[in-house]
Amino acid sequence: MVTSKRLYLSPPHMGGTELDFVKQAFASNFIAPLGPQLAEFEAEFSRLTGFSHCLGLSSGTAAIHLGLRLLGIGPGDVVVASTLTFIGSVSPVAFLGADVHFVDSDADTWTMNPALLARAVESIHAQGRRVAAVIPTDLYGQCADYDALQAVCAPHSIPLFVDAAEAVGATYKGRHAGYGCVAAAYSFNGNKIMTTGGGGLLASDDEAFITEARRLSQQARDPAPHYEHTTIGYNYRMSNVAAAIGLGQLEMLDGFVARRREIFDWYRDALGDLPGVSFMPEPDYGRSNRWLTVILVDEAILGVGPEAIRLALEAENIESRPLWKPMHMQPVFKNVPCTGGELSEDIFRRGLCLPSGTAMTEDDLARVARTIRLAAGSGGRTAP
Ligand SMILES: Cc1ncc(COP(=O)(O)O)c(C=O)c1O
Repeated sequence: MVTSKRLYLSPPHMGGTELDFVKQAFASNFIAPLGPQLAEFEAEFSRLTGFSHCLGLSSGTAAIHLGLRLLGIGPGDVVVASTLTFIGSVSPVAFLGADVHFVDSDADTWTMNPALLARAVESIHAQGRRVAAVIPTDLYGQCADYDALQAVCAPHSIPLFVDAAEAVGATYKGRHAGYGCVAAAYSFNGNKIMTTGGGGLLASDDEAFITEARRLSQQARDPAPHYEHTTIGYNYRMSNVAAAIGLGQLEMLDGFVARRREIFDWYRDALGDLPGVSFMPEPDYGRSNRWLTVILVDEAILGVGPEAIRLALEAENIESRPLWKPMHMQPVFKNVPCTGGELSEDIFRRGLCLPSGTAMTEDDLARVARTIRLAAGSGGRTAP
């Protein structure tokens, strides 16, 4: 029977001041979807990202849904998305009745491959269809190569809307993840680098875009003393209490990024000598937040594959997880076109996400490394 404490993949990590902000919300009785903590959270997020307008929402998926709707996406349109991503990145395309077209990753970044995006746009246009938006995913906290993607989009005036759900605190050429693109969506799900206990945010420099997103997120109520509606909206606003948690988390963010990167480096030092084991690359253009440490395992060289390692970790009460299964491999998207696909299929088959929570101790990390080394048959060495 396993008695050691469970190590989770990426559990919430409260820094201490979250409760103070929540108490302020309670004291003022703003236990509602609007209130001073939410306004402050949005202002702080603007300071962090550089976006002049930020809208706190109930989830990252809601942020993507609203963003795509505000970009005018509807039936008949095509939205190009990363195939190596989480379904929340692309389900909103289906909510809007539009079609999705997937694009494979680049080997050096694992994010959307700009050359394949160019091929995808060309083939969609050749069918006489409109590419209404491109939504690349900043994967595992690493920004896509926005400039290279923009170079493909700009000549066709295609908006680049970044799914930065996993990339809070990451940078691209010195600016925050998502900044410089038409809009960006962020997630504060419980497993993310910072959390509001579930939540998301839509950011843009376009004031009218965020003003309309705000209206739609609050049931599209028109100005009147009674409830008057000329459009269908959503109940997507972030609660003031959730925003209070977010204010505390934002104070911790720099430390969280530093610790996630330290954890990545620790694993690389501890496991990098294992034959057949490699780590997610980081391109020079940015600084990943290393939300999750991801390894690739070459079974033919190491002697065990990622699933055997996952099971060995599970037997030690340690959670690890396969990578996102590419969207073009998902049964629900079986008829959806994908430009490329082999690279993300290979990454998916060989990859494993290791526990990366910022509250992990050196002993916790050593437990993970020891278990992996034992599973690989090379036991013993646990610390770098
Ligand atoms: C890449 C990506 N996109 C979208 C989402 C959706 O965010 P949420 O869970 O807050 O709806 C997530 C995370 O969950 C994600 O990892």
